[in-house]
Amino acid sequence: MSSKGNSVTTQQISVLGLGAMGTALARALLSGGHEVTVWNRTPARAEPLAAEGAKVAATSAEALSAADLVILCLFDDVSVREHVEPAADRLRGRTVVNLTTTAPEQARALGHWADEHEVTLIDGGIMAVPPMIGGPAAFVLYSGPEAAIERHRATLELFGRVDYVGEDLGAAAMYDLAILGGMYAMFAAFQQGGQMVRTTGGTAAHLATLMAPFLQAMTEAFAHQAPGIDTPEDFVPEQSAEFTAAAIGTIDAAATESGTPTDLYATLRRTLTGM
Ligand SMILES: NC(=O)c1ccc[n+]([C@@H]2O[C@H](COP(=O)([O-])OP(=O)(O)OC[C@H]3O[C@@H](n4cnc5c(N)ncnc54)[C@H](OP(=O)(O)O)[C@@H]3O)[C@@H](O)[C@H]2O)c1
Repeated sequence: MSSKGNSVTTQQISVLGLGAMGTALARALLSGGHEVTVWNRTPARAEPLAAEGAKVAATSAEALSAADLVILCLFDDVSVREHVEPAADRLRGRTVVNLTTTAPEQARALGHWADEHEVTLIDGGIMAVPPMIGGPAAFVLYSGPEAAIERHRATLELFGRVDYVGEDLGAAAMYDLAILGGMYAMFAAFQQGGQMVRTTGGTAAHLATLMAPFLQAMTEAFAHQAPGIDTPEDFVPEQSAEFTAAAIGTIDAAATESGTPTDLYATLRRTLTGM
């Protein structure tokens, strides 16, 4: 580690995986003044970053031993294991931040492997698309050893806001997947709603302009509903289960009557009311 000028502490950092996301992460680190070594399975993808000042490693093993801090942004858990496991000796004593999307249990299993080989593992879930990296709306969920995350906070903040969600290495993946689940539930409701309004002469494009601000306003209800999940024994809901079930029943009937039947609303009713 060395100091550049009076503000940036330069670190040797390796980034493995230069897809759309890994490239954005490497670029953010270069912009932050770090010495970045990159590696990608298909070497051509490293060329733009080489032109911007990154060193290119010939092999993943070379990249893993070139830095104290290693960022992984590969495809999945299998691709992470494929490159990390054979390099256990090279990684001893280093910190690895795995920003590849994996399941919580895979993150924990990699944590056990890391413990056995004296590697410090941090797991992360990126809540952004590549063009957002380094911008004000990006945030990344982190789980694992809090002290290691704090030690690297200034570097990790180059990607976006740092949100620590717990010591359990599976926590970042669990929050990440919960948030993505919310996104897909919303998209499913929009797809279905678009079909429904078209049967009355409307368009999905018009629905989009009306549904987006309404749903945005509705997200304030999360904070009111959270105690019903965290401490259900003390919770008095604002709306009864019967009222919610009847409201969803009306939506379901409209979908069926309009010739666009769906299982979506029955699933929502069961999830929200148990009925
Ligand atoms: N893009 C997003 O909006 C976003 C958002 C949040 C999280 N993420 C996560 O970030 C990770 C990377 O996403 P991405 O958008 O950068 O994907 P991408 O553009 O499809 O790139 C995938 C990367 O994984 C590499 N790869 C795949 N299999 C490999 C293997 N067996 N060994 C070594 N490298 C392998 C690819 O190398 P080649 O170039 O050789 O194929 C490429 O560098 C994923 O886990 C994704 O879920 C992405």
